Amino acid sequence: MSDKIITVFGATGKQGGAVIETLAKSKKFKLRAITRNPDSPASQELKKKGVELVKLDMTTASVDDFAKALTGSYGLFLVTDFYTYFGAEADIGKKVVDGAVKAKVEHFVFSSLSACKKITKGEIPVPHFDLKDDIKVYAEEKAKNGAFVLSTILVPFYYQNFESYFPPTKSADGTYYTITMPQEANVPLDIGDVNDVGPIVEAILNDKQKYAGVTIPFTTPLKMQEIVDKISKATGKTIKYNYVPPEVFAKFGFPGAEEFAHMFSFYNKHGAFPGQDTTIAPKLTKLTTFDEYLNNNKYYDNLQ
Ligand SMILES: NC(=O)c1ccc[n+]([C@@H]2O[C@H](COP(=O)([O-])OP(=O)(O)OC[C@H]3O[C@@H](n4cnc5c(N)ncnc54)[C@H](OP(=O)(O)O)[C@@H]3O)[C@@H](O)[C@H]2O)c1
Repeated sequence: MSDKIITVFGATGKQGGAVIETLAKSKKFKLRAITRNPDSPASQELKKKGVELVKLDMTTASVDDFAKALTGSYGLFLVTDFYTYFGAEADIGKKVVDGAVKAKVEHFVFSSLSACKKITKGEIPVPHFDLKDDIKVYAEEKAKNGAFVLSTILVPFYYQNFESYFPPTKSADGTYYTITMPQEANVPLDIGDVNDVGPIVEAILNDKQKYAGVTIPFTTPLKMQEIVDKISKATGKTIKYNYVPPEVFAKFGFPGAEEFAHMFSFYNKHGAFPGQDTTIAPKLTKLTTFDEYLNNNKYYDNLQ
């Protein structure tokens, strides 16, 4: 193991957790995790893997707090969690950037998303995408001035969202299930296994010069009919797709409905990664197929 420390934000969550999982196995780096709660079961699991825990609430942390948490780090992985701090996402991310500059971090790996507002010339703003792009642009300025090397990963709609946000729901008579979404049936959805973030980020960290300034989206696109057919095949249950237009979905009334509706409007018109090179990621790791994900997932064994 080298003495190089990688600090991972969101390490108890899905993306950061995937990064920790991969890096802990290859043992090339020392690992540090930022968490609000070092006593949580998820944090304690990290500790068992030899990960150093640093307690920090990103919503209240100052630039100096971030710099202190990053002290001695060679690299970092940053995922910002829109659904915890909403409109403050860009300000928080920029403070991490400034903290990284102060702490002299050499390699900054950021999980961003497409610049929807810019791409659509203001027609389809998607705050949890656009705020991440604001952070990316800010970090790019610092990288241009030589503060650190910046590499960016663009993460697609997780396969795992079909266990959380968009699970198959049982019909009233119990004979079939439905997935309801505002993704047009004939437009492939950019989709992928969140666990693939781990090997992609590892490959980036292993070759700082090669991935300096490089943006790496990953996707294994599928149409919604293909997705429900695959879930049907894997579960032996009938899963149907129910398309609702984004403007109808926006009025469903749950927190985030409007945000999702905007995101799908963007997906329907542009896909998740317009103008981006999706050929890099499959050279860094074998991307998990949707079938592989389904076959290795207990969630679908117990579909209620
Ligand atoms: N769902 C998708 O399909 C998808 C696709 C692409 C991008 N994204 C983006 O992914 C992001 C979420 O990442 P995820 O799915 O990996 O999240 P997640 O599994 O929900 O975990 C959230 C992580 O953020 C940390 N966190 C939250 N608030 C914090 C705070 N105030 N201070 C310190 N740490 C904090 C949590 O750490 P502790 O609880 O330990 O403090 C946890 O590790 C969102 O911004 C979303 O836009 C999602």
